[in-house]
Amino acid sequence: MNDADKTIFITGTDTGVGKTRVACGLLENFRLQGLRAAGFKPVASGAMTQAEGLRNEDGLNLLAASSPGLTYASVNPYCFAPPIAPHLAARAAAQTIDLARLDVACDMLARTHDRIIIEGAGGWLVPLNDTHTFADWVAAHRWPVLLVVGIRLGCINHALLSAEAIARRTPLLGWIANHLPPAAEVADQIVDTLRTRLKVPLLASIAVDADQVSATRQLADHLSAQLAHQSADSIVHQSTMQSTA
Ligand SMILES: Nc1ncnc2c1ncn2[C@@H]1O[C@H](COP(=O)(O)OP(=O)(O)OP(=O)(O)O)[C@@H](O)[C@H]1O
Ligand SMILES: [Mg+2]
Repeated sequence: MNDADKTIFITGTDTGVGKTRVACGLLENFRLQGLRAAGFKPVASGAMTQAEGLRNEDGLNLLAASSPGLTYASVNPYCFAPPIAPHLAARAAAQTIDLARLDVACDMLARTHDRIIIEGAGGWLVPLNDTHTFADWVAAHRWPVLLVVGIRLGCINHALLSAEAIARRTPLLGWIANHLPPAAEVADQIVDTLRTRLKVPLLASIAVDADQVSATRQLADHLSAQLAHQSADSIVHQSTMQSTA
């Protein structure tokens, strides 16, 4: 299995739409499937100082939902105090986010885990530094993506734009309708509109205040089946290449 067969990138239509909830639910379900699962938050901005150093809530939640034995830094290598865009937070700390460092951190997790769930920051096109966005980094790895849509006013446009931009560069597995409180009056109609217009499947629908683990159980089963299939395909492909070489 290479890292594209075990890694899933979770992006969202915006900040605060439920990416961490989905990521943590999936990690816990993968662990229930008997797999070693690790969350990864490459860059977190918005952190408090604790005795051990800066800690971000997403990083802590992903660490808690991951298989035991990981350090905070292995799950969240870049952590900045101000709750601002990652490249601006890095700049304020006189740092530059180095994609090679993110790759090394992911490789380390992939060596010892069966599933890596990476949570972006904000949405798909958020810059990491002056030259690269999350989209560039994810597309370079061809990691499959899940799009979390926070069902609220404005999400139709955000979802359609995000899906189009993602699918242009890397496999978009599907989208998740996350019903944010307060429930939108026309929530069902928003979901129907997106079902009709998005070219990828609705993989899960999460109710307001739903338990994140049960709400993502079927999704985790579906993803494991899909990743296993993908991995089998790549083994067949590799052996065909070897036998024709
Ligand atoms: N289905 C839901 N029902 C109730 N509350 C929810 C639901 N989904 C998300 N929330 C709440 O909304 C807030 C944002 O969710 P979450 O942190 O998962 O979003 P995010 O996309 O990861 O945000 P960020 O961009 O900050 O990483 C959290 O307080 C979370 O508990
Ligand atoms: Mg989050």
